[in-house]
Amino acid sequence: MDEYLTINKIDELVSVIKSLTNYHPKIGMILGSGLGSLAEEIEDPDLIPFEKLPGWPISTIEGHVGRLVIGKLENRQVVAMQGRAHYYEGYSMTQIGLPVRALQRFGVDTIVITNAAGAVNSDFNPGDLMLLTDHLNLIGMTGNNPLRGPNLKEYGPRFPDMSQVYDRELMKIAREVAVENNITLQEGVYVCLAGPSFETPADLRFLHAVGVDAVGMSTVPEATVARHGGLRVMGISGISNKANLDGETVTTHEEVLEAGQVLVPKLTTLIRNVIKRLG
Ligand code: HPA
Repeated sequence: MDEYLTINKIDELVSVIKSLTNYHPKIGMILGSGLGSLAEEIEDPDLIPFEKLPGWPISTIEGHVGRLVIGKLENRQVVAMQGRAHYYEGYSMTQIGLPVRALQRFGVDTIVITNAAGAVNSDFNPGDLMLLTDHLNLIGMTGNNPLRGPNLKEYGPRFPDMSQVYDRELMKIAREVAVENNITLQEGVYVCLAGPSFETPADLRFLHAVGVDAVGMSTVPEATVARHGGLRVMGISGISNKANLDGETVTTHEEVLEAGQVLVPKLTTLIRNVIKRLG
């Protein structure tokens, strides 16, 4: 049986974070594959390696540094997760949700969740950003929801509404910022698959048929947990590759990391300007 989170365990972890920083950020960020260098923009940072945080899931994957970066961006206090753990690494969905639970108890009320994703929508190109307007919780729908287990009523109800996971006001701000800064901002539905294998052409035709625009291996568990807790959530995919619907191209983790180098400057501009507007 899975080990589920308790408020006591979460608070023990949060007390360690509080003992290592004097910042009190309300804005959190999760930086996905190849996107972690955005954290280098954070000024006067306190750096907390995930190893210091009891129970924190640690990523074993190249492109994920594995620490909290807490400091200032656009004169606002922020906390960024430079790297995240994934379900395919062997963690339970409960463990994947722990960082979001902890950041919320630490004081975060708004979270920007990013990922690298493959484009299922043929209008999208590597290097594009995609604003998540919704997600398909395929793993959760088929039994493995991060909210499975005793409900943490301090965060939210047993049966939380998911009609609007991604905050409309944040989406509006992101669209305006993108226009002002000449950034192409695609929009669409993201699906999280278990991974670690990339999709077969048949998988991708299935995802296309059910309305998916971008595919990856993260974000949905964290967004589900964040929404249960009542956080304001913004989701952004960095499109790293075209999904291989025709079976003619090969997808690699190297290309995902390479695309990150093109994506980070755009993502940085977008996130900086969204934060500026949060007031
Ligand atoms: N599929 C799944 N996950 C991904 C992809 C992909 O094509 N690209 C980046 N993450």
